Amino acid sequence: MNLLKDSFEFGLHTQIHFGVGRLQELPSILKKYNYKNILICTDKGIANSGALDHIETILKNGDIKYEVFTEVEPDPTIRVVKKVEQLFKEKNCDAIIGLGGGSSIDTAKGVSIAVANPGDLNQFEGKNQIPNRGPDVIAIPTTAGTGSEVTHAAVLKDEERKYKMGILSEHLHPKAAILDPALLTTLPRGLAAITGMDALSHAIESYTSNQAQPITEALGLHAIELIGKWLRPFVADRTNLEAASNMMLASTIAGTAFIWGRVAAVHALSHPLGGRYKIAHGQANSMLLPVVMEYNLSSNFQKFKNIAALLGERVEDLSLRSAAEKSVDAVKELVTDLGIPKTLKDINIELSLEEIQVVAQEAFDSGIANANPKNCTVQDLVSMINTIK
Ligand SMILES: [Fe+2]
Repeated sequence: MNLLKDSFEFGLHTQIHFGVGRLQELPSILKKYNYKNILICTDKGIANSGALDHIETILKNGDIKYEVFTEVEPDPTIRVVKKVEQLFKEKNCDAIIGLGGGSSIDTAKGVSIAVANPGDLNQFEGKNQIPNRGPDVIAIPTTAGTGSEVTHAAVLKDEERKYKMGILSEHLHPKAAILDPALLTTLPRGLAAITGMDALSHAIESYTSNQAQPITEALGLHAIELIGKWLRPFVADRTNLEAASNMMLASTIAGTAFIWGRVAAVHALSHPLGGRYKIAHGQANSMLLPVVMEYNLSSNFQKFKNIAALLGERVEDLSLRSAAEKSVDAVKELVTDLGIPKTLKDINIELSLEEIQVVAQEAFDSGIANANPKNCTVQDLVSMINTIK
């Protein structure tokens, strides 16, 4: 970015409450906003992990009235959003807590849209298509990856179309995010690995995108460094609170970076792969990230050299190109160390040529890849999918 010629915008709209044990402050945070009856939106995994019981105890002790919905599904659907919207209205709620990973937080955001804006949610796909701001969302993440706790994005699945749509709106920034790393300690190992790679994808895609600007670059770089240092120890032992704290921080910083820096071809492709073949978002990103990085290398060798160095690669005596290439090696090694499957075949998915074409076309049409630092045609996206076959 040329600071003499180019301009940029940046804002963060979510109040962040970070720290081990900060969940205890939930009642005082909610009271500050005068909510009368709050709906907790979460999934069965969280309900069974004890985290929901923990929060309910805190709310009861704090004299907070609440309702609970525990049937959020892994890929949040419009159908479930409509169900929660009904409950929200029946119980006269006035705010929503998204408790869980990206699915719970995005469902909460979907409910907020639905309550204040009548009609089919499909009409709000894209950027700033939502006319009215809905009830506040309070995000309490239990994974370190989504970034949804601070972003303006919700990804919701339309089951009829097998389509994951992105809704981006300034109305979707959560009012507050309670980031308590103690909530990460019961996260299953596989989920810790792929959600951490989702965070790394946000950091690298926003840092290298054609929308990057000085503030998002600074945030992206710091998130990459934190993830390079802490994702392995976190996945190895989720009760390591220092590692959990650093990963939770990294996830939120990377989320903040991509509000303005955007994500690119990795996310363009992972959405249709998730929508059509139920591949978990972080799993799809883990497979795609090194492939897309390799494709993008020549757009800015210096940036990829910086990524390599932050991920622990030795780059001092190398040419700029060789140093940049080390960033791809570093991400591949990370995926290997975390035990994440690397190809579609590894997760028993085989796509025909026609299916690959459809995924690539859908990725292209979503416009997400427009932020890719190197232009992508549908054929380029086809080649990327072929590389992870
Ligand atoms: Fe993501």
